[in-house]
Amino acid sequence: MTPLLQAKTLLPLAVAGLLLCSMNVKAQPRLSADNIDQVLKAMTLEEKATLCIGGGRAVTTGGVSTGITDLVRGAAGSTRKIERLGIPNTVLADGPAGLRIDPTRDGDPNTYYATAFPIGTLLASSWDLSLVEETTAALGNEVLEYGVDVLLAPGQNIHRNPLNGRNYEYFSEDPLLSGKMGAAYVRGVQSNGVGTSIKHFALNNQETNRNENDAQVGERALREIYLKNFEITVKESAPWTVMSSYNKVNGEYTQQSHDLLTTILRDEWGFDGIVMTDWGNKNDTPKAVRAGNDLMEPGNLVEKERILTAIADGTLSEEELDRNVRRILEYIVKTPSFKGYKHSDKPDLKAHAAVARKAAGESLVLLRNENGTLPIAPKGQKVALYGESIVDFVAGGTGSGTVNKAYCVNMVEALTEAGFNVDPAIAGFYDEYVKYNDAVLALSGTQRTYRYGISKFDDPAVPRSAIDLHARNNDLAVVVLGRISGEGSDRNMDNDFNLTDIERQLVSDVHAAFHGLGKKVIVVLNVGGVIETNSWKRMADAILLPWLPGQEGANAVADVMTGKVNPSGKLPMSFPIDFMDHPSSANFPYNQVKTNTPFGTARPAGSHEKDVDYTRYDEGIWVGYRYFETAGTELSYPFGFGLSYTDFAYSAPVVKARPDGGFTASITVRNTGKAAGKEAVQVYVRAPGGGLEKPAVELKAFGKTRLLQPGESQVLTFDVSDYDLASFNEDGSRWETAAGTYMVYFAANVRDFRQQATFKLARPRTWPVHAGAMTGGN
Ligand code: BGC
Repeated sequence: MTPLLQAKTLLPLAVAGLLLCSMNVKAQPRLSADNIDQVLKAMTLEEKATLCIGGGRAVTTGGVSTGITDLVRGAAGSTRKIERLGIPNTVLADGPAGLRIDPTRDGDPNTYYATAFPIGTLLASSWDLSLVEETTAALGNEVLEYGVDVLLAPGQNIHRNPLNGRNYEYFSEDPLLSGKMGAAYVRGVQSNGVGTSIKHFALNNQETNRNENDAQVGERALREIYLKNFEITVKESAPWTVMSSYNKVNGEYTQQSHDLLTTILRDEWGFDGIVMTDWGNKNDTPKAVRAGNDLMEPGNLVEKERILTAIADGTLSEEELDRNVRRILEYIVKTPSFKGYKHSDKPDLKAHAAVARKAAGESLVLLRNENGTLPIAPKGQKVALYGESIVDFVAGGTGSGTVNKAYCVNMVEALTEAGFNVDPAIAGFYDEYVKYNDAVLALSGTQRTYRYGISKFDDPAVPRSAIDLHARNNDLAVVVLGRISGEGSDRNMDNDFNLTDIERQLVSDVHAAFHGLGKKVIVVLNVGGVIETNSWKRMADAILLPWLPGQEGANAVADVMTGKVNPSGKLPMSFPIDFMDHPSSANFPYNQVKTNTPFGTARPAGSHEKDVDYTRYDEGIWVGYRYFETAGTELSYPFGFGLSYTDFAYSAPVVKARPDGGFTASITVRNTGKAAGKEAVQVYVRAPGGGLEKPAVELKAFGKTRLLQPGESQVLTFDVSDYDLASFNEDGSRWETAAGTYMVYFAANVRDFRQQATFKLARPRTWPVHAGAMTGGN
C-alpha cells in the first residue's frame, strides 16, 4: 500500500475512533455538585460497592504509617477514587486533640508537625463555647492545610465511669455540656471548609473488649444520657459525618443498627451527612449498608465482595446501596480534595501554639486555693518540683488521639521561663530517671510508645531525708501527679484512680517537710481522667487541674500560677470520694486483668463474662451528678466546681416564658473582687413532681462572662425550650415535659446555687418518637 493510499484508508477509521471516544466521554459524566444523580446512574455496581469501602488500613513500618494513606502520610483512612467519573480520593485523619498525621516523610526534609491542643475534657472545662470554636477553628486550619478532608473528631461519649481509658478524648458526664461542646467544636473545625466525624456513636463507654462488648441499656438512659449529646451536636452544628462505634447496644452492633443510624439519627434528628464505621471489619456488611452505615472504614475488599454478593442474591437492594452512594457523593463534592484545594503543608504552627496555650489557660480548673496561696509572684522564688511529669509532661492521651507535635513544654521549662528558680538537683533526678528507663527499654530493642497502651513509668520514691533538705533549700514545693491513658484499655481503680503508694508517700512527705517550715505545697494534676483527691487534698495549699493540656499546657499552668491568667475553668464531671460511689462502678471492668487489646484476640467462643462481653447499665439515668445530687452523696468536688482569684455576685434573675414554649432567663454577674476574671454560670432546673421520676436537678443551660474588671458586670442570657426540659417516657415512647412550677437555679456549681426563680408551664407537652428503637430483639 502506498503511503497516500494508506492515509486514505486509515483516516476514516481514525475519525470514527475519535468520535466513538468522544461519545464515550460524554456517556461518562464527571462528578460535579449538580450532577450527582447522573453520576450515580453512570456507576457500575462494582463502582458503587467500591465507593462504600475505604481505601484500606494504613500500615506502620518503623513507627511510621504508610499505605493508601500515602495521600497524607499517617492519616487514618480515605475514600476510594473512581477516575473515569472524576471522583477523587478524600482523606480522613484523627483527632480530637489535634490532627494526627506523620511528622516526617521518607526522603523529604520537611516536617509536618501538628499542634497538640488541649484534650476534649479540658476544652469542656472551659464552659466557653466561643473559646472552643476559636480553638478548633485553628485546629481545622491544620486539617485543611495538610490536605485532609475530614477530622475524625470530636469524641463525645459520656463519662459514664471515671475509668474509661478514653475519657480524656470526651467532654463530660452531662449530655447538655457534651452536646454543646461538640457543636462548638464542629462549627470551629468546619468553618475551614473541612468536615468532622462525631464519634463513637454510640455507647462506647469502655475500652475493655470494645470491639464486641454489648452495652445493655434501658431506653430512657439511652435517649436522655447517651444519645442526647449527639442529638444536640447534630442539630446545632451539622457535622459532615458520624462514626458508628465498635460495640453492640442491646445485642446489635451500632454500625448495623437501622434504628440508630436511620430511624433516630436521620429520621428523628435530621442528619444529612454520611455515617462511617469505626476502624474495623464486621462480618455482616450488607446489614450495615441497609442500616444506613454508608462507608466501611478503613476498608477491606472483602466488604465489597459481601455487598456485591448480597445484591446478587437479593438480600440487599440496589436502592439501598444507591441511597448510601448518593450520600457519599454528596459528601465528596463538599471536600477540599474534590474542589482541588492546593494545601500549603505550612499551617501557622506558631500562631496555633498561642491558641493552644490560651485555650489551656482559660480552661484549667483551680480546685483548691487555701488562704490565697495562688497566684504567686515568681521573683526568683526557689521551687522544688516533684514527679516524672515535671520533665515528661503529658500533653495528651494515647492511641488514635495522639498528636505528633514538634515539642511539648515541660514544667521545668515553663516555671523557669515564668521567672521561678527550679531546684536543678530534683529536676535532674527525674530527668535521669526517665532517661534510665528509656535506656532499659532500648537495651531490649524497644522504645516507649504512646500509640497504644499505657507506657508512662511509675514515679520513683524520693527519700524523706532528701525532701527535708529540699524544704530547707526552697521556698515552695510543686508536686505534679501524672497519668497517661488511652485507646485500647481502661484505667485501674488501684494505682491509677487511687494514688500509688509512692505518690501518696511523696505528697505526705512534701506536706510534712514544707509545711513544717511554713512553706507552701501546690499539687498539679496532669491527668486524663478523674483521680481520687479526698484523702490527700488537705495536704496541699493549692491544687491545679490542667488535665492533659497539649504541647503548651505547662506554660498555661505557669500562667495561672503567676496570675497572668485568672483561672475560670470548672469541672465537667463530679469528683467522688471513692471510686465505688459511682453507681456504674458496680458494672465496670475496674480491674485491668480482664482487658482485651484494641484489635486483639477474639473472645473465647460463647464467652459471656460480665463487664467484658456485656455491660449492664443498671444505673440507668443515674450517671454522675444526676445520681450524687439526688442521693445526697458526699463528694470531693461537685460537678461544675472551680475557683477563681476573684469573686462574683449574681443578682436580679429574670425568667420569662417564651411564646414558643420554654423560658428565657437572664442574670447579672458582677466581679466583686480585686482581680479581672471570667465566670461560668450554670443554670439548673428542678422539675415539678407528678411527672416521670427526675434527678434532683439537671443542667439546662450555661454561659460564661467576658473578662470582667473589678466592679464590672455583665448580663448573661439563657434560652431553654420546653423540649429541653423533657424526659423520656419508655412506656409511651415519647419525650414528656410535665406541667407545673419549675425551679430555676443560677449556680456557680451544682452545689452552689446563687439565685433562683420559677417558671410555670401551664400544659404538659409530649413529643412522640419511634416506639422501642434500639431496645433489642433485632
Ligand atoms: C478509633 C477511632 C479512630 C480510628 C482511626 C479507631 O481505632 O476508635 O477513634 O478515629 O481508629 O484511627
